[in-house]
Amino acid sequence: MKRALITGISGQDGAWLALHLLRHGYEVHGSFRRGAERTFSRLHRLGIADDIQYVLLELCEATNLVRAVDRTAPDEVYHLAAQSFVGDSFEQPAYTLDVNATGTARLLDAVRTVRPDARWYQASTSEMFGAAGAGDTLLDEHAPMVPRSPYAIAKLAAHHMVGLHREAYGTFAARGILFNHESALRGPEFVTRKVTRAVAAIALGHQQVLTLGNLEARRDWGHAPEYVDAMHRMLQAERGDDFVVATGRAESVRTFVELAFAAIDVSLAWRGTGSDTVGVEVGTDTVRVRIDPSLYRPAEVGWLRGDASKAARLLGWRPQVGLEELVHRMVRADLDELAGDLGR
Ligand code: NAP
Ligand code: GDD
Repeated sequence: MKRALITGISGQDGAWLALHLLRHGYEVHGSFRRGAERTFSRLHRLGIADDIQYVLLELCEATNLVRAVDRTAPDEVYHLAAQSFVGDSFEQPAYTLDVNATGTARLLDAVRTVRPDARWYQASTSEMFGAAGAGDTLLDEHAPMVPRSPYAIAKLAAHHMVGLHREAYGTFAARGILFNHESALRGPEFVTRKVTRAVAAIALGHQQVLTLGNLEARRDWGHAPEYVDAMHRMLQAERGDDFVVATGRAESVRTFVELAFAAIDVSLAWRGTGSDTVGVEVGTDTVRVRIDPSLYRPAEVGWLRGDASKAARLLGWRPQVGLEELVHRMVRADLDELAGDLGR
């Protein structure tokens, strides 16, 4: 039986990956950090909370990392833990660098010291491409990286640090450059889940209007459970390598909003421009979407679209669930969750 250590077990990807690895017969160790509440709601939602072995792990604390690796003795380390919200990284740049970049360096060193043969998966990100995505460029593993947020800068430093361990110490290290991936377990601060939750609340009459920032940003949105399968495949390959994981289709936040309202049979008409834009419900003329400029980012990544042909060729990985289906599933799940909450 293989043993996996997943850092960040409480997050969206941690939960889906744990489910995937348990189904493949792994002993799964999941890391958490101290907090006022320890609920593991996503793991409960997937029905696997009792199947995980939990280990306390804080990326800002080097000796704690050594003990965590020693206690879990992993064959595979999936390093997912991070301050993952780009917007907050502008408010907390030094903290984001410490957790995402220096924290990765600390954990790499702990693994090199205690468990040098363990395989490493690095949660790298399309956000590292930053400005290079402009103009609908199709981004692959060789595209330039022009980061535009403290989060992206920290992730790019971690990406290079993992590459260095591969080169300097012969570590089996895979770097997954994953584009945005979503699901009903996505954190509510990210735009997709913010939209689908609001649309569900509007459908049930508990919210009137959804307030957003930049509607024109385009993202390549995929289905999270498929992306954790790609992570696992990377660590079963012959050697550690770099892979873009994406759908190849980029749509705007505006289109995502239209699809989400369509899932509750509401058509939107757009009026105005820039921060004066409003989305109005066709038929009733009710304003359903407004812009709040305070939600604009100080520097924006306008366009991200990925080319995952290397992952298809070498890993046999291909995206399955399309955007329309993804949005529909997320709205449906939020309707069910909200209706359940209201019934209690
Ligand atoms: P997420 O839901 O925000 O989960 C992040 C996890 O990291 C949580 O378990 C969190 O624990 C943990 N964490 C945060 N700070 C920590 C610290 N100082 N020490 C230890 N653990 C800490 O993120 P996700 O969407 O699952 O993403 C997983 C990884 O993939 C992240 O590294 C993210 O940057 C990267 N990524 C995500 C996407 C995407 O579209 N989802 C795309 C590319 C790359 P708490 O619950 O205690 O906060
Ligand atoms: N969160 C949020 N909230 N974003 C908004 C809003 C809003 O109200 N309005 C517009 N947006 C725009 C953001 O400006 C951004 O251009 C886009 O929607 C997507 O924002 P997020 O959903 O927060 O995701 P992200 O692309 O910044 O980052 C996610 O994907 C990265 C991979 O490309 C995160 O999961 C990162 O951890 C991940 O690395």
